[in-house]
Amino acid sequence: MHEEARSGPTTARFRRRVWVSVTGALGMAAASTLIPAMLDTAQAAANACSVSYTNASEWAGGFVANVTITNTGTSALSSWTLTFNEGGDQQVTNAWSATVTQSGKAITATNLSYNGSIASGANTTFGFQGTWTSSDAIPTAFAVNGVACNGGTTTSSSPSASASASKSASPSASASASASKSASPSASASASKSASPSASPSGTGSYGAHVADPFTGGNRYLNPSYVSEVNAQVSADGGNAAEAKVGTYQTALWLDHIGAIAGDTNVGLAAYLNGALAAAKSGTPEVAEIVVYDLPGRDCAALASNGEIPATAAGLTEYETQYIQPIAAILSNPAYASLRIVAIIEPDSLPNVVTNQSKSACATATPYYEQGITYALNELHAVPNVYNYLDIAHSAWLGWPSNMSGTPAVYKSVVTATTAGYASIDGFISDTANYTPTTEPFLTNPTLNVGGNPLDSVTFYQYNPTFDEQTYDTQMYNTLVSAGFPSSDRFLVDTSRNGWGGSSRPTALNSSPTTAAAYVAANKIDQRPFRGDWCNQNGAGIGTPPTDEPFGTSSAIEGFVWIKPPGESDGDYPSGSHTHGDPHCDPASTNTDGNGGTYSTGSIPGYDVPAGQWYAYEFQQLVANAYPAL
Ligand code: BGC
Repeated sequence: MHEEARSGPTTARFRRRVWVSVTGALGMAAASTLIPAMLDTAQAAANACSVSYTNASEWAGGFVANVTITNTGTSALSSWTLTFNEGGDQQVTNAWSATVTQSGKAITATNLSYNGSIASGANTTFGFQGTWTSSDAIPTAFAVNGVACNGGTTTSSSPSASASASKSASPSASASASASKSASPSASASASKSASPSASPSGTGSYGAHVADPFTGGNRYLNPSYVSEVNAQVSADGGNAAEAKVGTYQTALWLDHIGAIAGDTNVGLAAYLNGALAAAKSGTPEVAEIVVYDLPGRDCAALASNGEIPATAAGLTEYETQYIQPIAAILSNPAYASLRIVAIIEPDSLPNVVTNQSKSACATATPYYEQGITYALNELHAVPNVYNYLDIAHSAWLGWPSNMSGTPAVYKSVVTATTAGYASIDGFISDTANYTPTTEPFLTNPTLNVGGNPLDSVTFYQYNPTFDEQTYDTQMYNTLVSAGFPSSDRFLVDTSRNGWGGSSRPTALNSSPTTAAAYVAANKIDQRPFRGDWCNQNGAGIGTPPTDEPFGTSSAIEGFVWIKPPGESDGDYPSGSHTHGDPHCDPASTNTDGNGGTYSTGSIPGYDVPAGQWYAYEFQQLVANAYPAL
């Protein structure tokens, strides 16, 4: 994820295991079978396998299964074909990360072009969705490339469940009451995982009303993977109470690659939703929060978060069938009907369409961004309890009047191309993973004249009159509504890292400076050297915790949310040890404003952490500089 502001009105460029769920009747109890290879010859040891098959979710007449193949042999595989017989009367309807065919009970799954290689000891996961009538019984025997992977062990819980249980166990005995509370949903997540969502009393399949504001009256579910990251840091830091508080607030589950759906790095989507179901209290809807972030040619204007899918027609098909369809298949399980699921749609993508057509990677990706988002909105809006919020950058990107005026046409074309039209979205989100303050409390008038110049003329603002998110969201809301968007489409703001507390923060208006530049410098809370800086900002602090209706229901702003999990890196940069990354994350490098100006990236010196990975120092600094203090 990366947002980058290029200043100037038109140039802004800111920018898995097989689980065999033994099922007789609807209230299945997911027993799991892990089946290592039965080998009795040296030859077989070269080619050996274990397979796990799990029903990520199951409901009356349907299921989603994840299958992980592990190469337990000594030789690498360059391609694979998995064969097994379904245990019941399942019919496969669609699959991802493999080509799956069915003949009677016999299933054949073959690798796709990108996941045929499995090194010795490594694994790969694919998934599929299907229907069943009388039995969803689990398969019991598997073969990879003709080698049987049978004769294994049986365990009573699914692998995802045990993964999340072990991740969620709080390492900190000193965790506060709230921290231990936050550890509990994941514990129940794993409990509920084996119990299956359909065993839940909430799993009746009856959807409540699609409400105006999903957060109102709801309880925000905590991502157990993030809670685990935070608690590990709390423990390492001797039980730091302020740090522990961070883990008590909701952050989003980022589905930033196909494997994230099954949970290869964090909790998987189904396990996450099962956890939300288990955490729900009677009568209070549990609010889950996910980020849909894997478009073809993702992050076209930068190098920090480039995606796995190419900006090609085939890439668009991959996005639709291997990424969006599996997500929609899981979300549409009626067992989750009682949840409210907030989906943040594709950060940075349409803003890049608005301002970055001069960059060839963005021009190339544009049709795939547009078609991909229309597809995603259609699939997700078809699920009654999903709430779609389209990312709309932040004030330091689309805030220039000429950028703002060009915005509605792009968003309209994508949204009105959906089956439900405007109804396919519930609102917008600004400042996702960025650092722009919600308000600049001492700079409330961008045209205030100081020493002969308006404040917005200073280098930091470059004639962008939107100094903060409240100003930007209000103006953008009015612009979109004037262009035809419903007035019910209000804005969320990602306040996870836009607090700017700490000793550099001004505490009162200083009206003595006699030049606009000095006045702005003395009074702004945003401490970045350049407003277009976006990567691991030095001096930043956590912002206001998630809040519903912070300015009342007549404001354009509907709520504060923490989408970017504080303490996860924005990106790495090419260094002596690796070529991957974005120079705009290099503390020794620069950003440019499009007008010839060059500025420090403002990135924290001394570290080089890939996007999404835990970054202890950054977390500690964000906590220390939180505003309001934690
Ligand atoms: C990264 C993602 C990551 C997310 C949350 C984004 O900037 O690109 O890979 O999951 O942040 O940390």
